Amino acid sequence: MIAQQSIQEVMDRADIIDVVGQFVRLKKRGANHIANCPFHNEKTPSFYVSGAKGIYKCFGCGKGGNVVTFIQEHEKLTYPEAIKWLASYYNIEVEETEKTPEQKEKQLAEESLRIVNEFASEYFYDYLLNEEEGQTIGGSYFKQRGYTKETIDKFKLGYCPDGYDVFAKAAIEKGYSAELLEKAGLIKQRNAKHYDVYHGRVIFPIQSMTGRVLGFGARILKKTDKAPKYINTPENELYVKSRVLYGMHQSRQTISRNDECFLVEGYTDVISLHQGGVENVVASSGTSLTEGQLRLIGQLTKNLTILYDGDAAGVKAALRGLDLALEQSFNVKLVLLPDGEDPDSFIQKSGASRFHEFVKENKKDVIGFRLDVGLKEVGDDPVQKSKLVNEIAESIGRINKTEDFALQDHYIKLASEKLEVDPSGMVNLVNKYIRERLEQERRQKNRDAEKAPAPQEYVEQPQDVLAPPEEEEQEWELVRVLIEHGEKEYEGYDNVAALIEERIDPDLIEQEMARVVFDSYYAYEIENGKLPTVNFFNTFPEPAMQTKLATLLQTRSDISHNWKDIYGIETLNGEQNYINEVDSALTYFELKKLILVIDEISKRLKTEKEETRYIALMTKYLQLKDAEKEILKKTGTMIFKKNTKKA
Ligand code: GTP
Ligand code: MN
Repeated sequence: MIAQQSIQEVMDRADIIDVVGQFVRLKKRGANHIANCPFHNEKTPSFYVSGAKGIYKCFGCGKGGNVVTFIQEHEKLTYPEAIKWLASYYNIEVEETEKTPEQKEKQLAEESLRIVNEFASEYFYDYLLNEEEGQTIGGSYFKQRGYTKETIDKFKLGYCPDGYDVFAKAAIEKGYSAELLEKAGLIKQRNAKHYDVYHGRVIFPIQSMTGRVLGFGARILKKTDKAPKYINTPENELYVKSRVLYGMHQSRQTISRNDECFLVEGYTDVISLHQGGVENVVASSGTSLTEGQLRLIGQLTKNLTILYDGDAAGVKAALRGLDLALEQSFNVKLVLLPDGEDPDSFIQKSGASRFHEFVKENKKDVIGFRLDVGLKEVGDDPVQKSKLVNEIAESIGRINKTEDFALQDHYIKLASEKLEVDPSGMVNLVNKYIRERLEQERRQKNRDAEKAPAPQEYVEQPQDVLAPPEEEEQEWELVRVLIEHGEKEYEGYDNVAALIEERIDPDLIEQEMARVVFDSYYAYEIENGKLPTVNFFNTFPEPAMQTKLATLLQTRSDISHNWKDIYGIETLNGEQNYINEVDSALTYFELKKLILVIDEISKRLKTEKEETRYIALMTKYLQLKDAEKEILKKTGTMIFKKNTKKA
């Protein structure tokens, strides 16, 4: 069994353009890449790859899916084999054994942090909008900064009350442990009492690409020398600074659509640019760009434009990440803002069209920028100049991916002109640096290989990759049943899908991702007049969703094949048992609906004063309770069958 964590790591890391590009010649067209389809013979390309969505699709033969299904198809591998292929391609160590207690603990810690952050974010947002102190203090601060209600909603901005422990009390009362709240950086202890770390501050939630709250930035409102202007969440299992970019969630679609990402210093720059209509912008929180951050951007675009004001420390730090960006084939541009302006003040003063104009007029590429700065420093000193020539050649050598030869060429021409050296000499110098670097990398790899333990044999175990809570599992079970068996027969209905549509109220599905899949299934049917195939579900763009669906669908069929091959038996997962699976999935939801109605009736019973109505309600209540008991008896033999598959 491959650990869920490893699958996630592989999915996060795998770049579909990069991977598919290993097998076919891709050409960029608009937001996509196209090629002749590797799965059928053709002369004109109808094979599309979308880096932003992480999917491929051939409009000739209909094949499509994500990076894992591509490797499965192309290399004819099973799902776990494909994951391992990708892992080795990206040098990721795959966890294959049962999760260690520490791993389980880490996963649990992440999950609890996520939940407590979600609560805190809601609390601060609600406090800002609905409490008097929030409105008068936090609200007027944002107003004075020029933020609209729409902006506040978009970034889920909030306010933490200025008491000693108003938030701490509310959170602890809700059942969140002080220990967890401390780890999340929300509260601290002083003299055996807890206090709110962010009290009296406005709150900027920091979200993941998919909108999960990973941490917070909290800005002080009063001017004081004692307290820091911003307090940020400390690093913990969930909030890993080097893997986060502020604004990614709100900006990702526009970054991909415009095929460009602006990088700025911090929260207020991102927010003001958004409000001003520039919606493809992220901030790196004052660190130099890391590999993890570049990977996030790289999924959406390779065009990175850094906006900076001469004295912004944060962007200076970002500039230090430039070589890394060049190595990863980013097309990096720099824009120096007018004196005394940062992106926040500039857009507020000048508006979006002036902003775009300015960016266009002042965009410099990295090498051009280094050349300009370097030439100024060097002056007439020949020794210094030779040093600069070497530095520039090394920088150009870092742009080393096959597809970037054109870019490299461009820089070589530019540099040899500005430095007044012979272009062919420059080419030689650049090549020398490339050779040196490759040699170094090769040696490093050999050293790593010596150190690495022998790869373990992959042992497939009939277990779920992840053991989520029962409720979540049942909702996904319904989705799985729908995808896998939707087309099959069911007595009295057109098919299983029709049965499920009649019996399930989608509002009862609480997992958002599960509901999205459920709704999309029927939307597809309406649009296309036929039920979707399993492949359709590979086209959901969110990586988390793809992993979830891939795990859900693939592990299942792997398991049943495996059992059949090894033991010669049909598993409960086999064909004949789909009716059981469908019934079981439906029963769970019936029970859930029933419980809701029972709750409602028992509430009404408490307030009903009129006697005949009271008796009617009570009769209904008892009937429903009986029905609940019946279903519970059945679930003992049905719903939990799923678990026996694992044993
Ligand atoms: P004023 O301009 O004085 O009103 O304050 P500001 O809140 O805009 O902060 P400042 O201009 O001093 O900071 C520049 C940028 O960096 C702004 O976008 C801030 O939101 C941001 N910033 C400051 N500290 C941090 C931090 O710790 N993390 C992140 N991500 N951004 C920060
Ligand atoms: Mn500012």
